[in-house]
Amino acid sequence: MADPDPATYGDRMAEIYDEYHEGLSAPEVVDPMVDVLADLAGDGAALELGIGTGRIALPLAERGVEVHGLDVSEAMVAKLREKPGGSGLPVSVGDFTQFDLEGRYSLIYIVFNTLFALPSQEAQVECFRSVARHLADGGVFLLEAFVPDPGRFDRGQRISAGIVEDDRVTIDMGRHDPVTQSVTSSHLYITPEGIRIYPVNTRYAWPSELDLMARLAGMRLRSRWADWRRNPFTAASTGHVSVYELA
Ligand SMILES: C[S@@+](CC[C@H](N)C(=O)[O-])C[C@H]1O[C@@H](n2cnc3c(N)ncnc32)[C@H](O)[C@@H]1O
Repeated sequence: MADPDPATYGDRMAEIYDEYHEGLSAPEVVDPMVDVLADLAGDGAALELGIGTGRIALPLAERGVEVHGLDVSEAMVAKLREKPGGSGLPVSVGDFTQFDLEGRYSLIYIVFNTLFALPSQEAQVECFRSVARHLADGGVFLLEAFVPDPGRFDRGQRISAGIVEDDRVTIDMGRHDPVTQSVTSSHLYITPEGIRIYPVNTRYAWPSELDLMARLAGMRLRSRWADWRRNPFTAASTGHVSVYELA
């Protein structure tokens, strides 16, 4: 059942987020991301929407980029604060659907499909509009997301194994609604201590729809790659890294 509170995901997931996604903090994953982000930020400041526990923001700040963050979950931000370099990072707690911050940024970025946490097309368009208002002259908006693949669902459902170890198993369970382009899902985390459930609800969009959202917000696509190594985006790509600029 969808939960209307945008903080629910982060507040519940914070305790295990880094452990659950441990492979995603490996240097071979993070370094190419930080290379691209540092390059786009140049000498200006960057803002991460949905900064979470700082998986990307902290290594980017270590590179010398002035990184700001916005996240609706106090619990995720508290985890970021515990990490080296995390206490000094300027992070605002709030919703990135519609935001009003003082800064103007040469780079605003949102990674790991986080735009799809917004539950409707309207909310996602509103986020693009907020981004456009916060870009400095010549600034860009980078968005990383998967390419939707409704074929993953069998009669509207999907169950898949994640970590499978002797005393730890994770299972993702989801239901797909192609009309609203939404997936209602939960991560199940099973250990000898018991089963914990973490809800993850998404409203996905194809790259073409995202480009239209950008146009509605006064932006246009500058580049689209299949990955962080800037490989070409093709019909076979399962994800994309897209860079938008003010039109
Ligand atoms: C999947 S995590 C990604 C965290 C981090 N960017 C990373 O790549 O590891 C999504 C983050 O977005 C935050 N988030 C989700 N919906 C939000 C919203 N409407 N406004 C602000 N933050 C939101 C969550 O609290 C969570 O920290």
